[in-house]
Amino acid sequence: MSLPLIGNILSIDAQEPWSTYTQWHAAYGELVFTRILDQKVVVINSQHVAQALMDKRSRIYSDRPYLATLEPFGWLVNFAFTGYGDEWRLCRRLFHQSFRPDSALKFRPMQMRRAREMIVNLIDDPQHYHSHFATFSSSVAMSVVYDYQPSARDDPLIRVVENALDIALQVLTPERAILLKAFPFLLKLPDWCWGSSIKRDARISTNHANEMTDIPFRYAQQHMGENFLGQLSMVAENLQRMEKQDEASKPMFETALKKAATTAILGSYETTTSTLMAFVLAMVSYPDVQRRAQMEIDSVVGRDRLPTFEDRASLPYVESVLREALRWHPILPLGVPHATSSDDMYEGYFIPKGTTVICNTWAISRDEKRYPNASNFMPERFIDVNGALTDDDPAGYVFGLGRRGCPGRYAADASVWSAIVTMLATVYFSPAKDDQGKVIDFTPQFTTGLTHSVLVFPCNISPRSHVHSGLVDIFRTEA
Ligand code: HEM
Repeated sequence: MSLPLIGNILSIDAQEPWSTYTQWHAAYGELVFTRILDQKVVVINSQHVAQALMDKRSRIYSDRPYLATLEPFGWLVNFAFTGYGDEWRLCRRLFHQSFRPDSALKFRPMQMRRAREMIVNLIDDPQHYHSHFATFSSSVAMSVVYDYQPSARDDPLIRVVENALDIALQVLTPERAILLKAFPFLLKLPDWCWGSSIKRDARISTNHANEMTDIPFRYAQQHMGENFLGQLSMVAENLQRMEKQDEASKPMFETALKKAATTAILGSYETTTSTLMAFVLAMVSYPDVQRRAQMEIDSVVGRDRLPTFEDRASLPYVESVLREALRWHPILPLGVPHATSSDDMYEGYFIPKGTTVICNTWAISRDEKRYPNASNFMPERFIDVNGALTDDDPAGYVFGLGRRGCPGRYAADASVWSAIVTMLATVYFSPAKDDQGKVIDFTPQFTTGLTHSVLVFPCNISPRSHVHSGLVDIFRTEA
């Protein structure tokens, strides 16, 4: 039996497609079939079905849909978009060696150090808080992948990544991919011809993407002997391994290593920053939550030292704040699309080979039965009557599922926790006020299209009362 066909491209909200799919969930159920131009698409609206297909049948559901923009725009370097095959397997294996749970544990001292360095920046220069979050996110990844230590502000290598991302997020939209798939000749038009701007954009994007791949890689090659991290970086470790391989396999290995490295930087940058932005929006909008989390830290850790990972198990409320920050505004509300690599039947429905499969994380995170008043920030939903954490952890779906599930999630979890707990221990977030002392009203704004990320909003960040300048000097030297 075929799944009933719902909607078409014109009925899907281009800015927030997850909203349309969530309305379909209410009307048509957990599994919905649609067609976007000539592409068959299945939308999964529940964690239960996502697990049944993407996880339990991951052999079939781990491919990626074809994106016509990737190659011309220089974005084949991102293995998150690579099809399910040998090249993806090699990239993923290289990535996994550095980021699997026991390897990621080794990053913790560096993550904590970077979180404290971020506090110094937040206190010195609070209005650029987004930029300090971005520096924190990318500096953790740059250290692990290239053993590169970016400067706290205006770092040249971080700029290279930002340049590539700035253009990519504008041009790598599904609309461009569909346009180019339908009209590939657009890439061959002469420069003076109407419609040739896509070709120009593709050239600029490819140059930026090549710089982003090659410049930090060269840095790692040239500085292999130096070792700030206390362990070899992902690139250095694998370059050493490569030296022992036969000449014929080296080029393929080096290409895969470059892709794994670039994807780690790309995977970290937006996601971690965006989760921290959601956290700050929550702290400003829900002052009682902030107070309760700070009281927990003060009573467990005290005020004369900073929290460390050893305190984590004794801070369940802070843990529930992290879970709620991941659930409240998931950065990838539709995950990253999967595709089927062979035909399948599920509960009597036929799902053909080549179908794009979208997991609607937004619908799962906004399910009113599971999360009453889902649009409110309520960490208590993850705490049971005895004050212990419940079994419901949004990490089970916000990081995707199955063989393509986020392999950076252990590093991401530790980065976000170290940043959140250190901020709660040291600074206080409150609504910004104007020159007359009146609170500046604002309506939160978010990025749209592919990602859902809180945009910068007016916010006051000040050191907590016990955080005097002497203590900040200590963070400065520690950092
Ligand atoms: C809060 C932070 C993060 C969130 C919410 C997140 C979420 C996701 C999601 C939803 C996917 C797609 C999964 C799927 O297809 O089912 C993904 C893929 C991926 N993520 Fe993350 N991520 C985060 C942080 C990171 C970090 C820090 C790294 C790198 C260190 C990373 C590296 C990757 C990679 C390499 C993939 C592609 C996996 C593949 O296609 O095989 N992510 N992430």
